[in-house]
Amino acid sequence: MNQKQAIKVENIVKHFGKDESLVRVIEDASFQVDKGELVALVAPSGAGKTTLLMMIGCVEEPTNGTVWLGDKKVYDNKWLTSEIRKIRREKIGFIFQAHYLIPFLNVIENVTLIPQTNGVPEKKANKKAMELLEYFGIAEKAYAMPSQLSGGQNQRVAIARALANDPQIILADEPTASLDIERSVSVVRLLKKIAQEQNVAIIMVTHDGRLLPYCNRVLKIEHRQVVM
Ligand SMILES: Nc1ncnc2c1ncn2[C@@H]1O[C@H](COP(=O)(O)OP(=O)(O)OP(=O)(O)O)[C@@H](O)[C@H]1O
Ligand SMILES: [Mg+2]
Repeated sequence: MNQKQAIKVENIVKHFGKDESLVRVIEDASFQVDKGELVALVAPSGAGKTTLLMMIGCVEEPTNGTVWLGDKKVYDNKWLTSEIRKIRREKIGFIFQAHYLIPFLNVIENVTLIPQTNGVPEKKANKKAMELLEYFGIAEKAYAMPSQLSGGQNQRVAIARALANDPQIILADEPTASLDIERSVSVVRLLKKIAQEQNVAIIMVTHDGRLLPYCNRVLKIEHRQVVM
């Protein structure tokens, strides 16, 4: 086993529905992402980018294939561990396409929710959250409600939240979609820095070609395959 491997997907297949309503999204795709890499995932709308991230994140069940997270095989035609929820909570940070802050929790409560679910004491979780919010220039909004923030500010909170549990893998679905180019570049640079310094594997979906030079590699979905 390769020590550097963070994500390994082999012969993954994903279909939705059946018979006349069968949608073939991914057919027999294989790829690997190493620790420390920031990899862009690029494909047209509807090609299966979100579906692929959700399968890696143990949220959406593949139709077939094998998924490894680190040195653990988590899927082999079925989920292999009873701890899928724990793995999802502790190993993976999600940044969703729609940012999905919880509307009735304030900013800092949103950021500390998962660490606290994982048993991190409140004080420690708050300290880490404030550091992240400061990093993203939104510390003064720590006690604001999501509805009081702009789209871009909401997205920065969502990114801070994904980093709050020190995940080994970050799955980011268009994390910069609602940001201007300057902020987008600074977010991508930050993701690259996190990947390198904390040895985290990051897959980032983007439609913005200007961000690709900041990534280590680009994966594409073409003809239902994942290609480099
Ligand atoms: N729960 C579902 N049931 C049926 N079909 C689905 C479901 N989820 C996704 N699909 C289909 O799978 C295909 C891939 O969808 P997905 O959301 O992964 O695309 P995407 O590449 O993320 O697109 P976008 O860039 O617009 O976000 C689409 O054809 C979509 O309609
Ligand atoms: Mg999508």
